[in-house]
Amino acid sequence: MRNTGTDAREWDGEMTMNAIETSNLTKYYDALCAVDDLTLSINNEIFALLGPNGSGKTTTVLMLTTLLHPTKGSATVCGNDILRNAEEVRSCISYVPQDMAVDIKLTGRENVRFFADLYGVENAKDRVDEVLAVMELTDRADDLIKTYSGGMRRRLELAQALVHEPSVLFLDEPTIGLDVAARKKIWEHIRNLRKKGMTIFVTTHYMDEADQFCDRVGIISKGRIAALGSPSELKARLMKDVITVRIEGECTPPHIEGVIFVGRTGDEVSFTAENGSEALPVLADTLARSGAAIRAMFLREPTLDDVFLQAVGQQEEPHGFEDAKFRIMLRRRK
Ligand SMILES: Nc1ncnc2c1ncn2[C@@H]1O[C@H](COP(=O)(O)OP(=O)(O)OP(=O)(O)O)[C@@H](O)[C@H]1O
Ligand SMILES: [Mg+2]
Repeated sequence: MRNTGTDAREWDGEMTMNAIETSNLTKYYDALCAVDDLTLSINNEIFALLGPNGSGKTTTVLMLTTLLHPTKGSATVCGNDILRNAEEVRSCISYVPQDMAVDIKLTGRENVRFFADLYGVENAKDRVDEVLAVMELTDRADDLIKTYSGGMRRRLELAQALVHEPSVLFLDEPTIGLDVAARKKIWEHIRNLRKKGMTIFVTTHYMDEADQFCDRVGIISKGRIAALGSPSELKARLMKDVITVRIEGECTPPHIEGVIFVGRTGDEVSFTAENGSEALPVLADTLARSGAAIRAMFLREPTLDDVFLQAVGQQEEPHGFEDAKFRIMLRRRK
């Protein structure tokens, strides 16, 4: 289903189907299972797919944008099957890939016009002016892309993506490599598109951005969804407080009632507890008695980073910390 009008605007109110539906979507590259049995419904929201490098984010986006065939399972975008109705899918979506998608030898306006013509956009000249203005690029529209900053290039890619008024927008790492101000600007634009009724599917490595700007997140690990929900729901699923302990060298996992191990990143070991201020001295004492060299301890509210760490687990196991054993122990305690 397409939006109507001159801008990315509201759905017609009669929409019953979800913008994106996947059912057991699976992709193998030879023996490697890159996306494993993904079942998702996404509609009228900014949905972020988060996951470590190689977890299957881009592969998922490539299947949903019809650029890659699934090995098993199915998906629809705007009610169109990604295999049987690929052309209809392509007419109602836009996709900004992880890598640069503009021609640096052309001007900003020429790049957007090229897309407008590819899609057969009516009143192309006006529409190109309009999307360049929305992305605050009017002043630089006739400069060559090679003179643009990274943030401007990303905004131009968004202008290109919007020129044919898609209903669903796929953005693979829209803010990667940008400075803080440029990232904020990109997210302002994404939020505005969402307010106008567009469904936006983003992948990102930036937890703080997902937390702040996205309606729902799916955390993917080795091709499988490990956690799914709004950032606040996911954080609430962790216990109330997070205690981070900076430890030098080895650490014997403590066994304390009401204190749950989350994970370890480098020299920082994280735990959650219902009442952090009560648990902190007990944890400090237990760790010290077990011979751990504690350098610092912090008490704070959970962030999406903690959710991610718990869902995805430790990426590299530092020497001396018996993470696997500790996890088995915690699982038994639940
Ligand atoms: N064309 C390909 N042929 C074989 N293996 C591939 C191919 N593309 C991706 N893979 C593998 O599939 C897995 C998922 O890759 P994918 O690019 O989807 O991950 P990603 O989550 O997007 O990673 P990143 O965060 O680094 O962009 C990885 O193990 C990757 O090496
Ligand atoms: Mg990727």
